Amino acid sequence: MIASLSGGAPIAAAERQSAAQMMDDLMYGRGSIGGPFTLTDQNGRRRSDTEFRGRLMIVYFGYTWCPDVCPTDLMAITQALERLGSAADGVQPIFISIDPERDTSVLADYVAAFHRNLIGLTGSPEEIQRVADAYKTFYVKVPDERGGYSIDHTGVIYLMGRSGEYLGFMPPQTSPDRLADVLRKNLAHDE
Ligand code: NI
Repeated sequence: MIASLSGGAPIAAAERQSAAQMMDDLMYGRGSIGGPFTLTDQNGRRRSDTEFRGRLMIVYFGYTWCPDVCPTDLMAITQALERLGSAADGVQPIFISIDPERDTSVLADYVAAFHRNLIGLTGSPEEIQRVADAYKTFYVKVPDERGGYSIDHTGVIYLMGRSGEYLGFMPPQTSPDRLADVLRKNLAHDE
């Protein structure tokens, strides 16, 4: 969901169009969604999607300064995984920062506030742009009146299969119960 988080400068028309186009492609499943990535985790280690094969992946794009939507959805993911009990070991939750300039050392403390298995990933701005494009996730900086910025971004919860294939997405504000149901159903499905 693209929602303006602050009363900052309006987004340029070209960027708005590209956001609309990406959301459209995502909604209607046009083109491929997801793909290989190698990024840096909250402990400074390089991590690749291939190491999560055999588990479902939850992929969520956001940033640690996000005032509202990101923490709410990450908490819903955390609660859904807790509801699964030991079956949660079959799911790898991943948070990818779309604010690599600010999400450096703060990333470790941030992900620790959610599920114990949550991995926080960051990288160079180019690496982040590439993986966000592959997932059809849109994000744009919106300057605020204090000389800083917030980021408008797609806030969907991606579900990827045991071979890394795209299974679908759940909208922002999906409840922990609904998320747990979707995860249980996909965990029960053998590939
Ligand atoms: Ni957010």
